[in-house]
Amino acid sequence: MDNRPIGFFDSGLGGLTCIPYLMQALPNERIIYFGDTARTPYGSKAEKTIRAFGAGIAGFLAEQNVKMIAIACNTVSSIALGEIRRRHPELPVLGIISPASHTVAKTCSPENRIGVIGTKATIRSAAYPHKILRYNPALDIYQQACPALVPLIEEGIIENEIMDLTLRYYLDQFLSYNEIDTLVLGCTHYPLVRRNITKLYPGLRIIDPSEEMLESIRDALGRRELFASGEAGAKRADNIFYASDLSENFVNMINRIFAGTDLRVTFKSIDLEEAAEREGLDYGF
Ligand code: DGL
Repeated sequence: MDNRPIGFFDSGLGGLTCIPYLMQALPNERIIYFGDTARTPYGSKAEKTIRAFGAGIAGFLAEQNVKMIAIACNTVSSIALGEIRRRHPELPVLGIISPASHTVAKTCSPENRIGVIGTKATIRSAAYPHKILRYNPALDIYQQACPALVPLIEEGIIENEIMDLTLRYYLDQFLSYNEIDTLVLGCTHYPLVRRNITKLYPGLRIIDPSEEMLESIRDALGRRELFASGEAGAKRADNIFYASDLSENFVNMINRIFAGTDLRVTFKSIDLEEAAEREGLDYGF
């Protein structure tokens, strides 16, 4: 048993799409989340920058005494997972790419036409095709970067024509030309526009890595006997949400996720570089 929180992070609010699955399946667990809202989007940045940002945030979470780091960001997972693991051998560090790749490999056959959408960095890394083909080499996989989606989602531009037009700009031709029938949402922001996608392209099978990640979290906690005990005191402790720029959308989305529960939520704004300097710590910058 281990009542320490699980550390999640993303470039912004996208990683929050993992949280409801966790709360529903593992209600005793507590969360420390970091959203790098001041520096989002990561997906159009250089690999070196993404690696430094990812390592910095993982270092910060480790300092907060988390029992596990869940990288709720496809971009960081595809580029910096190995490095973050090397820096924190004492902690289980989970990426988001493998669990969904496993599901695709297990549930698709060569008759399927599989599409992966993600940020420029994730698509460039080809992390999904590599993983999926390693588990099932018979499959056909097509990729499409959709770089304008994250800034729109961070701004809360979701249920309207601008989002629908942007999705059509990226997906109309990609889906029809490649005859895609299964689409992997390879960025944790994209489940927030899942409804737009299913409205525009009914019949498409959607795979959501934010949901698939839950099994690997459960598995890693179980294997290391790290499940929270569910004692009243532990349950009453705060779930803490850090942001490098506490935006209204970020706060609203978290309040929506926790609405109707009696769980406690605290918001904190933090400048990682300043915090590292103040505490004399090396967050990997
Ligand atoms: N939500 C992230 C992902 O899963 C990053 C998006 C971005 O910052 O570009 O890739």
